Amino acid sequence: MRVTVCARPPADITGGGLAVLVFEDDLSPLEQLSAEIAGQAKARARQTDFRGKKDTSLVIPFGEHSAGTLVVAGLGKTESVTRDTWRQAAAVVARQAEKDRCVSLAILPPFCLDKALSSCVTEGVLLGSYRFDRYKSASSTEEEPPRLESVEIAQADEAGIQRGTVLAESQNYARDLVNEPGNVINPASLVAEAKRLAAETGIDCTVYEEPELREMGMNGLLGVGGGSVTPPRLIHMVYRPQGGAVAKLAFVGKGVTFDSGGLNIKPGDYMRTMKGDKTGACNVLAIMKALAKLKPGAEVHGFIGAVENMPDGGSYRPDDIITIRNGKSVEIDNTDAEGRVTLADVLSFASEQKPDVLIDMATLTGACVVALGEYTAGLFSGDDRLAENIMNVSADTGERFWRLPLDDERLRKKIRSDIADVLNTGGRYGGAITAAMFLREFVDENIPWAHLDIAGVDSTKEDYGYYRKGATGFGARTCLEFLELYLTEKD
Ligand code: BES
Ligand code: MN
Ligand code: ZN
Repeated sequence: MRVTVCARPPADITGGGLAVLVFEDDLSPLEQLSAEIAGQAKARARQTDFRGKKDTSLVIPFGEHSAGTLVVAGLGKTESVTRDTWRQAAAVVARQAEKDRCVSLAILPPFCLDKALSSCVTEGVLLGSYRFDRYKSASSTEEEPPRLESVEIAQADEAGIQRGTVLAESQNYARDLVNEPGNVINPASLVAEAKRLAAETGIDCTVYEEPELREMGMNGLLGVGGGSVTPPRLIHMVYRPQGGAVAKLAFVGKGVTFDSGGLNIKPGDYMRTMKGDKTGACNVLAIMKALAKLKPGAEVHGFIGAVENMPDGGSYRPDDIITIRNGKSVEIDNTDAEGRVTLADVLSFASEQKPDVLIDMATLTGACVVALGEYTAGLFSGDDRLAENIMNVSADTGERFWRLPLDDERLRKKIRSDIADVLNTGGRYGGAITAAMFLREFVDENIPWAHLDIAGVDSTKEDYGYYRKGATGFGARTCLEFLELYLTEKD
């Protein structure tokens, strides 16, 4: 789909879908339409008591002469509108237009949109109309309406539309990858995708396979991957700006392509959706994809430990002691706490690059989902400024985060081991926190680091906002906007 600035006068738009965004109790933006259609819309609004409240919309068939639809979407009260409100309203109108089989749509906002809001409306349209239907054969998709081909936004900023397109397309790319099941994406095919992306974008990509991983002392990755017929791999991608970098950032993604739990096998209900355990990794790929187009002035490293956690004669076991890349030993209590064991290696490797900031994304703990629910991710950082910046960015991206503590020294004792440096589980209570404390053992303490626990938010069982059932790609946009903020704060 293409999103562009609408150059035509609104009254000239006849075919296709037409959408108007309005604030609560102010239907004046309807005046942009031809007098006939505006009159019709106002009459219908009166009949149905549509007043432009948030999350409400009004749909009016265009009339006999045209194939399209008019959708009026409410933004709510001016004072409570956030950037995400614009995304959500744009998603509503795009979905309505598709439902009514429009292949084009023109969106009329209530005022002239700046770069940021033009980006948001674009993001909402592209994220909202996302579908994952590549495995549905033609016969079973015939009830599905055709896809929107072009969307025009009136009074919008060209650069904002371009930026929004990059952000949304990269998030949708993450959703596409995460939605692929474990029989399609395994460590080898994830590597193939990373290489394909690298070739497409000109980004550096180095892949380490088993023999090298052994030499490098990446025994966490090798241990967790031991039970899979597809051995583990480490992916290291680098985006380098032209003409020197002003900063160096690193993103690490948990890349468990399927998490069966290993020998501590998960019950069936919990194993379902574990294709989503590679979300952090897919978000890292999405970030790299976006950077190639956004071209920021920072050098950005992306690290992925790609591994499948399976039960087998080659699996690692409870009681095993594994020495991680940085020399620390881990006693395995439970093979289902595998993400942290793989991230231990990858975080120590990433630390060796001495980035100015290190952020990891991982579908790490069910405990985080218990604590925060399925719509808010956990944020952990010992660096208040970094945590604050991520929270500020999150308010704009609409990806909700909540900070959880890392400073509870009594709780820290739960991951003490009698015979190794650290134990891979800390019991039921505070499980998201003990997991984050475990990760901290493998990060260079001089590097500002944040851990984003995206378990639960990685996929959704119901449609909400601009998400549809399935993978969300939650986290990638927040990282990209964080990078932007970091660079503006630097100069
Ligand atoms: N991948 C899971 C965590 C998860 C749970 C992600 C729900 C998405 C939704 C992780 O590897 C895991 O199995 N964690 C265990 C840890 C426990 C054994 C200490 C958990 O949360 O139960
Ligand atoms: Mn697990
Ligand atoms: Zn896992």
